[in-house]
Amino acid sequence: MTDATNPAPPTSDDWWRSAVVYQVYVRSFADADGDGVGDLRGIRERLPYLRDLGIDAVWLTPFYTSPQVDAGYDVADYRDVDPLFGTLTDFDAMTTDAHALGLRIIVDLVPNHTSDRHPWFRAALAAAPGSPERGFYHFADGRGEHGELPPNDWESIFGGPAWTRVPDGQWYLHLFDPAQPDLNWRHPPVRAEFEDVLRFWLDRGVDGFRIDVAHGMIKAEGLPDVGFNSMTTGRRQSELLGKGRLPYFDQDEVHDIYRAWRPILDSYPGGRMAVAEAWAETPQRLARYIGPDELHQAFSFDFLDATWSVDSFRKVIDTALAESTIVGAPTTWVLSNHDRQRHVTRYGDGEVGLRRARAAALLMLALPGCAYLYQGEELGLPEVLDIPDTLRQDPAFLRTGESRDGCRVPIPWSGELAPYGFGPAGSELSWLPAPSTWRALSVAAQSGVPGSTLELYRTALRVRHEHPALAGTAGGVTWLESEPGLLAFHRTGGGTTLTCVVNLSGAPAEVAGHGRPIVASDELTERGSRHTLPVDAAVWFERRRAG
Ligand code: GLC
Repeated sequence: MTDATNPAPPTSDDWWRSAVVYQVYVRSFADADGDGVGDLRGIRERLPYLRDLGIDAVWLTPFYTSPQVDAGYDVADYRDVDPLFGTLTDFDAMTTDAHALGLRIIVDLVPNHTSDRHPWFRAALAAAPGSPERGFYHFADGRGEHGELPPNDWESIFGGPAWTRVPDGQWYLHLFDPAQPDLNWRHPPVRAEFEDVLRFWLDRGVDGFRIDVAHGMIKAEGLPDVGFNSMTTGRRQSELLGKGRLPYFDQDEVHDIYRAWRPILDSYPGGRMAVAEAWAETPQRLARYIGPDELHQAFSFDFLDATWSVDSFRKVIDTALAESTIVGAPTTWVLSNHDRQRHVTRYGDGEVGLRRARAAALLMLALPGCAYLYQGEELGLPEVLDIPDTLRQDPAFLRTGESRDGCRVPIPWSGELAPYGFGPAGSELSWLPAPSTWRALSVAAQSGVPGSTLELYRTALRVRHEHPALAGTAGGVTWLESEPGLLAFHRTGGGTTLTCVVNLSGAPAEVAGHGRPIVASDELTERGSRHTLPVDAAVWFERRRAG
């Protein structure tokens, strides 16, 4: 085994404030052993690609020992690597190489629930109702004359009741799949275990954690009913995610957990951080997860959910920046992840979606704060909408008919035939099939091609790092009043002004007076100092102060 404590790269402890983090969906990034599933060795081999792309950190989705019912978000051993993905030795080697290339490593921590194969849950099932073993989870007697009804009306995010009955008649809570029982975080040994798990990975050199379902660990005392669910009114409780209160999410006491974790993170050198996947009723409640005594960041999903209009983007950007100023932590922008339809497809059909996605990338990368990219967005990958039902693997699909598989298709690297270099030479295996149109979208097909989405990302990321107006971690944006349908703002630094203009007007738009275009998502037409932006295009202009 390599040295367990890999030194962090020698940069500032505040690296996360302006970082660009690239989400690697481990099973779909690169497959070194040819079994059709991505792995840690595959990631290690592709680290130079990530360094050249110009990102700062890599977030890896769960690679821990798991029956893979929910693609690894059902963890059976928090301290080991699933053989599907490699070994701890592979993890250490990958981390060492990443650090040598100046890349940070963020791992996914899944504290809300374990796998039903976790030793704790197996022990709980084997023990009697009321036993200490059952205290690790939420076991309860059912309602009804014979306890034949679930203990309350809570609904799984994946559809159906959030309770499953065990042979002795009790029920256990699972806010996701029945194979993901929720832990009882009021039980002290649960807290102690996760503090130790944090240390385990920090000792191995990880630079941060993405906290899965960070708003979920504490449930309201007495487990009160919500009052409706799809069985009673046809309305799903998950509609309230990010919009209303639910007794199983965003309870005040969850913050005690993060106040206990922060000193652990701070006790390690090099700026170890944590980002919350959290849903709260308001931006103000979401902001409570971040700050000097809790977590460093929380994803701003409002940006991802913004519609293609000036008003929508301005509102979410202003709100997010205002909140981040209050809590003194950077905004965290994200357009896509492994749970959501890819933004190329969200923004429109075919070319429209791609044009808008390219423009949205320039918008996001010009904003102050930290940006999270999802693997494949730098290639302009669309959602794969026509995966045959028989091949779909998302557990939510069976319960709701909705599936997240379309954004999880393996990355096309090179070559003429699917899966386009995902595995070693000659391997035809991939756990989800890639469409034939992806031949033209592979890394090899786009590398060095002017105007390709990959080259646009490479250029934008390089400029973002080097440009004095963008490189700073602090500050807001100055909105420019402009023609209707244009979103325009500037940032300044080092005697320069960088202006980002996005054309959301639905027609070509003429702009002038912002200086020289340095990055554009589409071709501009130039007439003297005036530039015409095509529909759905974004551009960065630069002006240097005279003298
Ligand atoms: C998070 C993950 C998602 C997973 C769920 C349950 O939302 O992003 O992929 O299914 O948690 O762990």
